Amino acid sequence: MEEQTRIASDSKTSRRDFLDLLLGATILGWLASIAYPVIRYLKPLPQSGTTGPTRLTREETAKLEQNKFVIVPVSGQRVIVLQSQDQKLLAFSAKCTHEGCTVSYLPGQSIIWCPCHDGRYDLNGRVLSGPPPQPLPEYAVQRQPDGGIVISEGRA
Ligand code: FES
Repeated sequence: MEEQTRIASDSKTSRRDFLDLLLGATILGWLASIAYPVIRYLKPLPQSGTTGPTRLTREETAKLEQNKFVIVPVSGQRVIVLQSQDQKLLAFSAKCTHEGCTVSYLPGQSIIWCPCHDGRYDLNGRVLSGPPPQPLPEYAVQRQPDGGIVISEGRA
């Protein structure tokens, strides 16, 4: 009889422990669901993309050679790297100064072109025609001794 009472008591204790644990986990989860968005709001995640000079990957270099231009991220910004007809490497912000569309390069016409409203820039980044109000900011391009291509902020 005494043995059965002890077993029943142990069973009650373990059920109570389990319910306490479940309640604790629920409260912890509830607090985390409130705290996480507040912390994210107060301390936003760093901007994606690397900062500082960016070396083109093999795939990006292959794309540049094939299409004569490639869009790459540099310090979180879109940058167009292009190869002019005289094989010169140039880099500009790929964000059109009109409404921010991504520009591309038309090698046959030697212009940087924005497809959104037909904005056209020359290979110095200056506006040739269309609505863009300002030239494209230029980036520095360096070809490394090993053939790699490095893009960094600032003029060439
Ligand atoms: S967004 Fe480029 S021309 Fe309008």
